[in-house]
Amino acid sequence: MDSKSVVDTLEGRVSIRKHSGEGISDELLDQIIKASRRSPTSSNRQAFSYVVVRDAARKQKLYELVGNQGHVLSSDVFIAVCADNSRIMKACEMHGDKMVGSLENSIVAIVDAAIAGTSLSLAAESFGLGTVMVGGIRNHPLEVAELLKLPKGVFALFGMSIGWPAENPPQKPRMDPSLNVFKEEYKEVTEDQLREYDNQLAEHYRRQGRNTPDAAWTGIMASRLSVKKREHLKQELEQLGYNFE
Ligand SMILES: Cc1cc2nc3c(=O)[nH]c(=O)nc-3n(C[C@H](O)[C@H](O)[C@H](O)COP(=O)(O)O)c2cc1C
Repeated sequence: MDSKSVVDTLEGRVSIRKHSGEGISDELLDQIIKASRRSPTSSNRQAFSYVVVRDAARKQKLYELVGNQGHVLSSDVFIAVCADNSRIMKACEMHGDKMVGSLENSIVAIVDAAIAGTSLSLAAESFGLGTVMVGGIRNHPLEVAELLKLPKGVFALFGMSIGWPAENPPQKPRMDPSLNVFKEEYKEVTEDQLREYDNQLAEHYRRQGRNTPDAAWTGIMASRLSVKKREHLKQELEQLGYNFE
């Protein structure tokens, strides 16, 4: 099966939440996973794992845990992308040592998993598959860990619903590069620049007949990010072997 170039894939990508139901072969999935496993990894730690879920009953439970997101059910494959220090913990034990639980060691595993997961999505999309990442998997880290039998040192950082697209949504406009790409020195954004992006995004949503406030980006960020969310997260991740001090 042919794949598109990295740049074409990125330029054309959009999150896909509706799937045709046509299956993904094990061969294709293996190829995608194999490619993504070549991602860079901090000091060769490879501090990530994938849990590949095809079983309908298990997907149903995941669907409920992530907040009833329909694409989990319609996907052909759901992959839990996990930060994974369990093998490093074991390596330390093999040498009579104990892995230090630290903010740094937690960040490294999270970054490794995020990089691998990004490659996974990119590789899948290069074959024409649709993906959407699922941060909702952090709603209930302990229950997800129990469902997927994750050992100490492992937690699901995000999920990914993968399937053949049954929708062709327009791409969501990104901020103008002047807001987040700088030459030599950082330049702080102005409110006018953010309002300009609000307008572009509001127009995008309205074209799709979606309700939107005029402040389509700043307003949504302000209302969502001014309240604490997933307050149990730190405590549950600590129970799973992570430390954020
Ligand atoms: C880490 C991460 C978690 C996400 N979690 C969800 C999610 O739980 N549900 C969902 O529908 N989309 C989720 N998304 C998709 C984003 O909403 C989407 O990427 C963003 O709105 C930009 O849209 P686009 O990917 O179509 O360009 C997530 C994306 C990322 C990177």
